[in-house]
Amino acid sequence: MQLKNLRTPAFLIDLKKLHANTEFMIGKAEEYGVKLRPHVKTHKTFEAAKYQLGDTLTGITVSTLAEAFFYQENGFQDITYAFPITEDKLDDAAQLTRKIKHFHILLDQYDTFDKVQHYGYEHNITFSVYLIIDCGAHRDGVNPTDPRSIKLASALHESKNTDFQGILTHAGQSYHCNTIEEIKRVAEIERHIMVQFAEKLRSSGVECREVSIGSTPTCIHANTWEGITEIRPGNYVFFDKFQADIGSCSLYDCAASVLTRVIGHYPEHNRILIDAGALALSKDQGATHIIDEVVYGFIKNHPELKITKLSQEHGFIDCEDTIKFSNFPIGSFLEIIPNHSCLTAALFPVYHIVDNDQVADVWKPVRGW
Ligand SMILES: Cc1ncc(COP(=O)(O)O)c(C=O)c1O
Repeated sequence: MQLKNLRTPAFLIDLKKLHANTEFMIGKAEEYGVKLRPHVKTHKTFEAAKYQLGDTLTGITVSTLAEAFFYQENGFQDITYAFPITEDKLDDAAQLTRKIKHFHILLDQYDTFDKVQHYGYEHNITFSVYLIIDCGAHRDGVNPTDPRSIKLASALHESKNTDFQGILTHAGQSYHCNTIEEIKRVAEIERHIMVQFAEKLRSSGVECREVSIGSTPTCIHANTWEGITEIRPGNYVFFDKFQADIGSCSLYDCAASVLTRVIGHYPEHNRILIDAGALALSKDQGATHIIDEVVYGFIKNHPELKITKLSQEHGFIDCEDTIKFSNFPIGSFLEIIPNHSCLTAALFPVYHIVDNDQVADVWKPVRGW
């Protein structure tokens, strides 16, 4: 199929860019001697996961049970469900534990540990578990300086119904950095906190096999992963305007875009209307801690045009200078690099894979929770 025949809005993936991004992370993990257990939450497809793993089906990280079942059905045998488990999800976690060789869950609450242990005892199952550590993002995870965190790890280690794998963190604070130097510092804090906590566990007699870290900004800029066993970046597959603004990549590296058509000219308001609204781009406002203005993505080849407003299906494009409307005929295409590719991708039922300006393939992501 040719691009010009696509119904818009459409989600495009530039295959060469995706491949370059995935090869970069495979190469960096190899060079630094850590396992790459990529997160698949950004794309949620079988095909992109294989690119992330260099055409293998080794370990991956997922964010939903729907993803876990999808990848299990597609032959993956080693999956970390990297979201705090709760009692309502234990039936599914047990099914996955029985179905594949390695299925790992996460927790950071004593109450959850009790529920997991009780369920394991009642159903004669041992769950493979990671303890989540808060390395400064304050989203989830135990405080690594609190002695109760060692106690929870010991309890996981000692319970017959939990197989304690080790510790896991996500340095989400890297997204709030203003400079690459700051991201490098966060990467070192992420590493240091995890390695120190793992040492504390080992000296308390708790075996800590895995020390797992990873966010795209810190994985791009880390200079050392000494003491780390695995990394779990995800967004780097596509990147996006946010990552370009904070310095994880350039706009050129962004592999995902939204193809949209011009649907209206409004010279009295100096405005162009497009068929990509909030349900095609998401309302993520981007790196507003660095960029003063709120714009909903970057329009390729037209830095002068700004997407300033979105309604459900309409996108509003403004410009500081007077728009030359004849350059943007009704029905002509614009291509937008989204602010946050994970959220934008999640709005599309299929992705169109572009290679040499042709639609080379269509990938279908898994949806739901
Ligand atoms: C637990 C966990 N691991 C890994 C990742 C991947 O990080 P990124 O999206 O920065 O690549 C995320 C992202 O939210 C996450 O929550």
